[in-house]
Amino acid sequence: MNKKKETKRKFQRIIERVFQYIHRFGVRVRIFLWQITYDIEIGKDTDFKDINYINTYYGAIKIGNHCQINAIGLIGPIEIGDNVLINHMSDVSGRTAKVTIGDNVLIAPRVSIMATMHNYRDKHQLIKGQGVKSADVVIGDDVWIGMGSVILPGVTIGNGAVVGANSVVTKDIPEYAIAVGAPAIVIDYRQ
Ligand SMILES: CC(C)(COP(=O)(O)OP(=O)(O)OC[C@H]1O[C@@H](n2cnc3c(N)ncnc32)[C@H](O)[C@@H]1OP(=O)(O)O)[C@@H](O)C(=O)NCCC(=O)NCCS
Repeated sequence: MNKKKETKRKFQRIIERVFQYIHRFGVRVRIFLWQITYDIEIGKDTDFKDINYINTYYGAIKIGNHCQINAIGLIGPIEIGDNVLINHMSDVSGRTAKVTIGDNVLIAPRVSIMATMHNYRDKHQLIKGQGVKSADVVIGDDVWIGMGSVILPGVTIGNGAVVGANSVVTKDIPEYAIAVGAPAIVIDYRQ
């Protein structure tokens, strides 16, 4: 880690502590502080509720206009379009790859979207010593992701697709497909 990054991270940690105390001043103050502290761009009429952490250590976070972000937390790099709803207890995490979410996307409660996972194949080494692998996650426009679903690294969900509740999306989902289950398979298409 270079010195500049290290200093920035320390500064962000202090601000995170401060956030815990200023929570009662409401969301507007937090948004203002995020914007001056982090690599974060927030569009107009975008609001946050009950978010616990914003982390731009790995990359910037860009959020479009008219979004409602009620996620537990966001870890960059992330790019979110306009009119996006991310519901309670969901989390979006890029880390070493990017998560892109299009316009008019609905993400139900308790959805996890992650672009990074552990390497684990070598049984002679601890999993935590094997590093991570990552691949971008892309979610198209007008996608609806049902509650409790998990979107794994490297997945692309096409425009207009629907992911049923509690699905685990391990592979790409075509445009306008309705996919359900673990692993998620296409059961139909929107007409
Ligand atoms: C995927 C979904 C949209 C499909 O709804 P629908 O069009 O009414 O479809 P049906 O209920 O007729 O289901 C069609 C088939 O898929 C199966 N199915 C539906 N949802 C499923 C799911 N999440 N996981 C596994 N199978 C599912 C049904 O059992 C049915 O199977 P069958 O044909 O063998 O009987 C819906 O089931 C769902 O998961 N909605 C998400 C709800 C949610 O997250 N709400 C939060 C509010 S933001």
